[in-house]
Amino acid sequence: MKNDIDLTPVDYSESYGEFIGVGPNGNLWVDGCDVAELAKQFGTPLFIISERQFRYTYRQFRDAFRTHYKGESEILFANKSNNGLAYRHIMNQEGAGGDCFGVNEMYIALLAGTDPKTLVLNGSNKQTEELEMAIANGLCINIDAMDELDRIDEISKRLGKDVDVGIRLKLDLDPLAGKAGVAMHGPGSMKEQSDSTKWGMSRQQTVEIVKKALDMPNINLKETHFHLSRMSNDAMDFAIMAREMVTWSGYIRDHTGWTPPCIDIGGGWTFGKWYGTGPRSQIDNDETAPTPDEYARLCSKEIEEECKKLGLELPRLRLEPGRALSGPSGVTVGTVGAVKQGDKKKWVNLDLSTNHLSWSAVLDWYYHNLPVVNAKAERSETVDLVGPLCNSDELGPKAQMPSLDRGDLVAFLDTGGYTESCAARYNAQLLPAMILVNGDQAEITTEREQLKDIAGRFRVPPRLLAGSFAK
Ligand SMILES: Cc1ncc(COP(=O)(O)O)c(C=O)c1O
Repeated sequence: MKNDIDLTPVDYSESYGEFIGVGPNGNLWVDGCDVAELAKQFGTPLFIISERQFRYTYRQFRDAFRTHYKGESEILFANKSNNGLAYRHIMNQEGAGGDCFGVNEMYIALLAGTDPKTLVLNGSNKQTEELEMAIANGLCINIDAMDELDRIDEISKRLGKDVDVGIRLKLDLDPLAGKAGVAMHGPGSMKEQSDSTKWGMSRQQTVEIVKKALDMPNINLKETHFHLSRMSNDAMDFAIMAREMVTWSGYIRDHTGWTPPCIDIGGGWTFGKWYGTGPRSQIDNDETAPTPDEYARLCSKEIEEECKKLGLELPRLRLEPGRALSGPSGVTVGTVGAVKQGDKKKWVNLDLSTNHLSWSAVLDWYYHNLPVVNAKAERSETVDLVGPLCNSDELGPKAQMPSLDRGDLVAFLDTGGYTESCAARYNAQLLPAMILVNGDQAEITTEREQLKDIAGRFRVPPRLLAGSFAK
C-alpha cells in the first residue's frame, strides 16, 4: 500500500516542478489542487507542500546514487529543513533515514517511528538529555567535541547500552582554497569559511578520538561525517569534498588501524530551476545548478578513484540532503493588502513576511514569485513585495507582477525547506498553517498558530502585578 503512490508527473501548461504548475483554469496549481481554492479554504499566509513532489525528488536522489555508486548508499533526509511529523512519516515510507539536530528533532523522528539505525545525531554542543535519548534509542552520534566521547561512554555504561558513533571532520579542503561560493555566511573562500566555522575535528583530534574509542568495548565506531553547507552550487566541489573524506579514511587507517566503513558526506545539495531560485547571484536562471545525477556521478567517481589509489574498500555512502528534497515541494501563499505608489517605486504589502520566508532576509535568498490567479498574466509592473513587519521586510524586491489589488494572491515557489522550520514570531505574528496536498486532497499538517499560543506563554511576576494594580 505505502509505496504504490503514482508519481507520474502532471502535465501543466507551464511547469515549476513535476507536481506544481499552471493548471487548466490558468491559476497556479499544486498537484491536483487550485492554489486559489486552497487559500480560500485554509486562509493565508499558508505553506503548501506537494507530497508527490517530495517523494519524487527524494527518489531522484536515491536512484541517482544507486545508479552511479558501486557501493551501498543511503539518503538521510535533513529533518531540520521541514521537521513536521507528517514529512517524517513520508520519508519513513520511502525508506529514507534522517539527520537529527537537537533533542526535539530526534524526538519527532522517533515519534514518527523512524528506524533509529537510519538516524544520525549531529550537533556541536550536545546536551546530556540529548545523548541519553540517542543512546537509549540506538542512534549514531557524530562526535564534534573532544569531551563528547567520554560523556557518551559514561552514559552508555550507565544505561547498559552499546552505542554507534561517528566523527565529524574538519576537512582541509585545499582545492577549494581559492574558490568563492554562493550563499556564504561571510567573506572569504570556501576553505576559509569552512575553516572558520565551529564544526569538525582536526586530523590529530580525529586520530585521538578513534584510538580512545577503540579501547572502549561499548563504543562502535561507524562513520566519519562532513557537511559542506550551502556554500557551493558546483557539483565538482562536492566531489572534491567526498574524495577528501576518503583521503582522511586512509590517514585514519594509517594512524589507528581502523578504516571508516561508512562516510557521511552531509547536506548542502542544491537544486536549479529555469526561472532561478536561490542565491541572488543566480536570480535570472539557475538551470546550470547540478542535478542529482551529476552529483552522484561525480562524487562516485572521485570516491571510487581515491579508494583504489589508497587500497581501501568502497565505504557505505550516506548523504543528508535537506532543501534539495523539501524545497521544490513547497509553495507559500500570501494575500495582498495595502498597495502604495511612491515617487520611485510601488510597494505591494502581503500578509506573508520574512518571519515565514526568513532566507529572503538572512541569506539574501531569492524565491520565484507569481500571481496565483491567472498565473501567466503579463508582468507589466515592477514592485517590491513586502511583508507587514516593522522592518523593510522585503520578500521580493523588484518583482515583475501584473497590476495587483487588495485581496489578490501571490505565491512563492520552492519554499518547502527552511520556511516553517525557521519561522520567527517577530511583531507577535502568528505562524501560518502548513497543508499537504496529494492529488486533489489537501490536509492540515501544522495548525495555524492562535493568539493563545503566543500570549498564553507570557507571565507577569506577582510583584509586577502588585506594582501595577495594588492600591
Ligand atoms: C549536518 C547537516 N546535514 C545536512 C544539512 C542539510 O543541508 P541542506 O538542506 O542544505 O541540504 C545541514 C544543514 O544545515 C547540516 O547541518
